[in-house]
Amino acid sequence: MSESSVGVSSLQPNTQPKPIKILLIEDDVVEARLIREILKNFNPNQFCLTHEKRLQWGVNRLRQEQFELILLDLTLPDSQGLASVELLVKNFPHLPIVVLTNTNDNQLAVEAVRQGAQDYLVKRTINIDVLVRSIQYAIERQKAADILRETNENLMKQIREKTTELMKAKEINHFKSELVSMFSHDFRSPITTVLSCTELLQNRSDCLSEEKKVYLFQMLRSASKNMVQLLDEVLLVGKTDSDTFQCNLTPLDLELFCLELVEELQFNADKKQIQIVFNAQGKIPQTDWDKSLLRHILGNLLANAIKYSSEGDRVQFDLIPQEQVMIFRIQDWGIGIPLKDHQYLFEPFHRASNVGRIPGTGLGLAIVKSCVEAHQGSIKLDSQVNIGTTVTVTLPLLFVVDNPAVKHS
Ligand SMILES: Nc1ncnc2c1ncn2[C@@H]1O[C@H](COP(=O)(O)OP(=O)(O)OP(=O)(O)O)[C@@H](O)[C@H]1O
Ligand SMILES: [Mg+2]
Repeated sequence: MSESSVGVSSLQPNTQPKPIKILLIEDDVVEARLIREILKNFNPNQFCLTHEKRLQWGVNRLRQEQFELILLDLTLPDSQGLASVELLVKNFPHLPIVVLTNTNDNQLAVEAVRQGAQDYLVKRTINIDVLVRSIQYAIERQKAADILRETNENLMKQIREKTTELMKAKEINHFKSELVSMFSHDFRSPITTVLSCTELLQNRSDCLSEEKKVYLFQMLRSASKNMVQLLDEVLLVGKTDSDTFQCNLTPLDLELFCLELVEELQFNADKKQIQIVFNAQGKIPQTDWDKSLLRHILGNLLANAIKYSSEGDRVQFDLIPQEQVMIFRIQDWGIGIPLKDHQYLFEPFHRASNVGRIPGTGLGLAIVKSCVEAHQGSIKLDSQVNIGTTVTVTLPLLFVVDNPAVKHS
């Protein structure tokens, strides 16, 4: 209570027109009158004192009116000691409290300050200097504490925001390193094929039959194609991350495009004796499409249907024209996808728990989703383990020329 003992010679009566509103909660009427007199003597216009004799009445008053300070007696009929401080601090955290104690309550007073009261005054020692200075200091200290708390809260907010940013950066970094390790791993296999084929063709050319040479060249072509496709995917993943990813429309014979794609993929499917059955239901309208996006969408979905089917299965690819949209439905009767994986399938690198040794990177569907979104369409996946998977992609017919989201070439 060091401040309370300092004289008030430097204190000038406040010239502000608005008096400081104080609520005195004190059951002793004599004490209350004494405090009122002291404040009045200092300056009748500087303080406006309201008096309540019970804590509950004081609380009610505080709920109705604005005050700048509470003078609180610690021995009230309806509340004793620190309980009163605790209740007031909890309910009115921004109001400074000065507690009034008896001479033998020193320990209690210190504890009250620890609990949030700004100061304490020993009743019998109260005089004009002590009271006025204590009130003014308590108000100033509370203001400083509020500013400090606000600054602290702002700092905490900034820390939280920075932490989120850092986490995001960390996630991106993690994503990048995963991407790098995955692609370096995936490039290794076709590069090894290229190296061994060229080595054989270069060093053992004399002993190789024509048939074997044709086979090796085929292997070379297929490995190179694999690498080009992988490179395409890397670029696409990069693109989908940036804002530059957009739809580039050109006129396209959609049915022919699908037939050619099926033919291309049938070559792969043949290895598992899988038959891709393509069916265009009705007349397919001539509209504009982004060929590259379509290739990524349908290529990945058909490749999945083939990859996750058993030997001898069938893959059904339906093209269903509707008034404003085109529906592409790809169905297989393969291993299916466990329910718990459904929600993560479009996230990069996620592979379902039942893939076993079937190779894959977990990027295909993420790319498909981005391409579908770029084409302003939607994608739906229905799948049951050991029953099969149906993926339905719905794309709008984008031949409306004035669509700002798409570019017509
Ligand atoms: N038709 C399907 N049948 C069963 N599971 C599928 C099918 N399509 C996708 N999945 C599951 O979804 C996962 C994600 O598919 P996605 O195409 O993204 O990756 P991937 O096929 O593993 O690898 P890649 O990037 O080479 O395509 C697959 O790993 C597989 O678990
Ligand atoms: Mg795939």
